[in-house]
Amino acid sequence: MDKQRKLIIAGNWKMNKTVSDAADLVGQLKIDLGKLTELDVVVCPPFTALAEVSRLLRDGTMRVGAQNMSEHSYGAHTGEIAAGMLKDLLVRYVILGHSERRQFQQETDAQVNAKLKTALVAGLKPIVCIGETLAQREANQTESVVGTQLTGSLAGLDAAQMQETVLAYEPVWAIGTGLTATPEQAQHVHAFIRGWIAAKFDDTTARRVRIQYGGSVKPSNARELMSQPDIDGALVGGASIDAHSFIEIVRNSL
Ligand code: PGA
Repeated sequence: MDKQRKLIIAGNWKMNKTVSDAADLVGQLKIDLGKLTELDVVVCPPFTALAEVSRLLRDGTMRVGAQNMSEHSYGAHTGEIAAGMLKDLLVRYVILGHSERRQFQQETDAQVNAKLKTALVAGLKPIVCIGETLAQREANQTESVVGTQLTGSLAGLDAAQMQETVLAYEPVWAIGTGLTATPEQAQHVHAFIRGWIAAKFDDTTARRVRIQYGGSVKPSNARELMSQPDIDGALVGGASIDAHSFIEIVRNSL
């Protein structure tokens, strides 16, 4: 595919897979995807499986990500996980501000921003999620909602930090619903996001930042989504916990 940016396909396993199930899945993925260099493949298991998945993937090109982390570096934060603990397990990526956390844990843009800065300082590559609800789309608020999320979540970053950050546009109405944004709908918002980055930072930064699409990505729609000029990968939920469908999504994106 003729794009300057390397595609990044990440599997967000959410709250699925015990350690042994995770080992099974990653074992299958490794056979087909373990040596790919044309694109970046990342798996994001739950915290409990990170150590084992990381150990299984230490040779090869697949990378490991976490689904969340604390904005604090250490100390009295019961139940939280620090960036340094993830680094210790050779975790490279961390998903921040997923819509499920925004919705069910009331995560705010300010918190996502604090986590983002902690992740960048620690040397983790953040995947920052943004996206509108169905009611917001129907009220023609998609751009203003996404713009507000970008402004709040990315506040205070310099251009180099912006370029280290992956964005994931995930319309909430398309997550886990089987309703995918059409390639045109997704491309429209991706172009808006890239324009926002150009205005806030500069053209070079806008050209370099990778913007994933997420929301009911499956083998049958991956190719068309990935062929859009401003879509640089996918954040895959449901279809990433089945080896066959995740492998097909990656293959169809090549
Ligand atoms: P889905 O989830 O692929 O199951 O829609 C995507 C996500 O939540 O990242």
